[in-house]
Amino acid sequence: MLKKILVTGGTGFIGSHTVVELYNAGYIPIIIDNLSNSNIKILDQIEKIIAYRPQFYNFDLCDEAKTKAFIAQQQDIEGIIHFAAYKAVGESVEKPLHYYKNNFFSLINLLEAYKNKPVNFVFSSSCTVYGQPEVLPVSENAKVQKAESPYGNTKQVAEEILSETAQAHKNYNIVSLRYFNPVGAHATALIGELPIGVPQNLVPFITQTAIGKREKLTVHGNTYHTPDGSCIRDYIHVVDLAKAHVAAIKRMESKQATCNYEVFNIGTGTGSSVLEVIAAFENSTGVKLNYTIGDKRAGDVAQIWGDATKSSEILGWTAELGLNTMMQSAWEWEKYLKNNAF
Ligand code: WQD
Repeated sequence: MLKKILVTGGTGFIGSHTVVELYNAGYIPIIIDNLSNSNIKILDQIEKIIAYRPQFYNFDLCDEAKTKAFIAQQQDIEGIIHFAAYKAVGESVEKPLHYYKNNFFSLINLLEAYKNKPVNFVFSSSCTVYGQPEVLPVSENAKVQKAESPYGNTKQVAEEILSETAQAHKNYNIVSLRYFNPVGAHATALIGELPIGVPQNLVPFITQTAIGKREKLTVHGNTYHTPDGSCIRDYIHVVDLAKAHVAAIKRMESKQATCNYEVFNIGTGTGSSVLEVIAAFENSTGVKLNYTIGDKRAGDVAQIWGDATKSSEILGWTAELGLNTMMQSAWEWEKYLKNNAF
């Protein structure tokens, strides 16, 4: 009997790639998405990749009654991967209540719908919980530092909600995955990152500059205490990240965990500077990038990259795709978008 996995936010960037990898691993993904930050056409794209159209439910998890009714009706869900949340750092600073309400109400409604029922629950967390780590690479037992933004705080508090819920109620089996920087696109170039408006993140800004949608990229500072002065991050291919979610589901199915709340870093273990990412893009695509050096961006940490040893040893997962593949796939997706308007 194929196992049904609920993917909330399943038409989003990471969600859509995870739906594909779940299906490839023999699961039946079903999607809830309110389409507040994604496009329904992604469902068609997923179908083109896996020749299967996942069941899609369009409602807001902040609606307690709808969420409760949906879960009560779907008795055969074996696991949940919860992506649905707002995630723009800058926007969260302008609209903190919007972020707290959306990200916490949706999570709590989903958890409450499983009161007294066993559930395997994978949560989309973030390396932002570490702030600027004192030791690099940063491991899961590093101290969580005060978030730089309401968005980062929603991830920190969500982890506390999950940890305390797992502590109090043994029917919840929970894994939090702390992502580093997800980039790139599916090898088919049929799904990828779809930023709404001007991209905040580096790689979509690079590809939109390269395709001529943006005049130039501004590098946010090159006077950090790093080898070339620009910030360092742990960029991870979105397909590798998607596969980590399948590994987390399998971990919980194995029932080998001695605790019903576990946290894993999902990164490559390698840091790359902004200037190194630009060089990788130019060298792997042959496209020269127009960029200038600008001021530092408020809230940026100088450098962070993850220690992924625990994920390798316990989840049996390691990232396989390198920076050049991340850049090439992101570029192929940008070219696809130019010829196929969403
Ligand atoms: C990366 C580097 C920028 C744009 C964000 C979220 C984090 C996580 C990953 C979800 C930084 C520099 C960027 C530009 C630039 N998301 N940059 N010019 O801020 O590390 O992390 O995505 O979990 O929560 O905060 O990613 O891509 O915005 O920035 O120089 O036009 O690129 O200063 O050093 P970030 P990013």
